[in-house]
Amino acid sequence: MALCRTGSVAQHRQVTTFEIPDVRPVHRIGYGAMQLAGPGVLGPPTDPARAEAVLRRAVELGVDHIDTADFYGPWTVNELIAKALRPYPGDLLLATKIGAYRDREGAWLPLSHPDALKSQVHDNLRRLGRDVLDLVYLRHVADRPGIELADQLGALVELRDQGLVRGIGLSHVTAEQFEQAQRLTSIAAVQNAYNLLDRGSADLLERTARLGVAFVPFFPLGSGFVADSGVRDDQVVRSIAQRRGARPAQVSLAWLLRRSPNVLAIPGTSSIEHLEINVSADRVDLSDEDVAELDALVAEGTAAEQAR
Ligand SMILES: NC(=O)c1ccc[n+]([C@@H]2O[C@H](COP(=O)([O-])OP(=O)(O)OC[C@H]3O[C@@H](n4cnc5c(N)ncnc54)[C@H](OP(=O)(O)O)[C@@H]3O)[C@@H](O)[C@H]2O)c1
Repeated sequence: MALCRTGSVAQHRQVTTFEIPDVRPVHRIGYGAMQLAGPGVLGPPTDPARAEAVLRRAVELGVDHIDTADFYGPWTVNELIAKALRPYPGDLLLATKIGAYRDREGAWLPLSHPDALKSQVHDNLRRLGRDVLDLVYLRHVADRPGIELADQLGALVELRDQGLVRGIGLSHVTAEQFEQAQRLTSIAAVQNAYNLLDRGSADLLERTARLGVAFVPFFPLGSGFVADSGVRDDQVVRSIAQRRGARPAQVSLAWLLRRSPNVLAIPGTSSIEHLEINVSADRVDLSDEDVAELDALVAEGTAAEQAR
């Protein structure tokens, strides 16, 4: 029997959704599964049972959008997802990424030739136990001589036409690359780094919003790769959290959701407690003054805002 959604958060929170073009509507707070791998996103989790419990709790709480990749572990996270959640709830969107691999030392390297992209789609289908991948992000766009965006997208369009992929997304792209891709085919979503203290993709956020394309910021809480993320520990964030009776992570996520209706948050965590906090972030009611204070943490037009 498929897992039921019985969590009280799902019953009470004011849920808002966004319809990802070519895919389906999802709740605006999802879950990023990268933190479930071992340290450095390598190998199995230190406590596999806990990692599976996090995934099951996410579904119970109403999370219907999980972000993953075969190169988390590698393979471990997709295997965990399949083990914990199959048979999948019918409305669960699994988004994966292709175009990269890890070497023995754990380096993140491109694997972006169109033929390699096709194999990676088949690998993800097999490992996740899906007949179709809901959303596939191309992680390395035209990154080397001889690799053209048109050919990479051509490979994905072929798979979409075969019914193996629903939506095509892009990750780590510039606004120019996004526009070039949009001229070649329909793009469902863009996944770039973006959070309270990193507004480097602000321009892209605006462009995707105008076109109704989903914008899925990674590192929404400032990243799991650094112990002191800045975002979760920022004094302004902390004092607003105190005023609102909320947690700093919730304030950071609530601010992201206020930026634009096409923003879909995928906070990452390996903890059930943090997961429960994060999925309730849409209950935090930021005032216009709160938002203005948070907006001002990074001045518009600064190097951070412009860097893409
Ligand atoms: N496209 C790409 O290239 C790319 C790159 C990076 C990430 N991603 C995706 O984006 C997702 C999110 O990124 P991320 O996980 O690196 O960073 P993140 O969501 O910004 O932050 C995760 C970190 O925040 C901590 N955390 C989570 N909830 C918390 C809470 N309520 N209170 C305090 N700390 C909390 C986590 O620790 P605990 O585990 O202890 O909770 C973890 O260290 C990933 O899972 C992945 O799916 C994509």
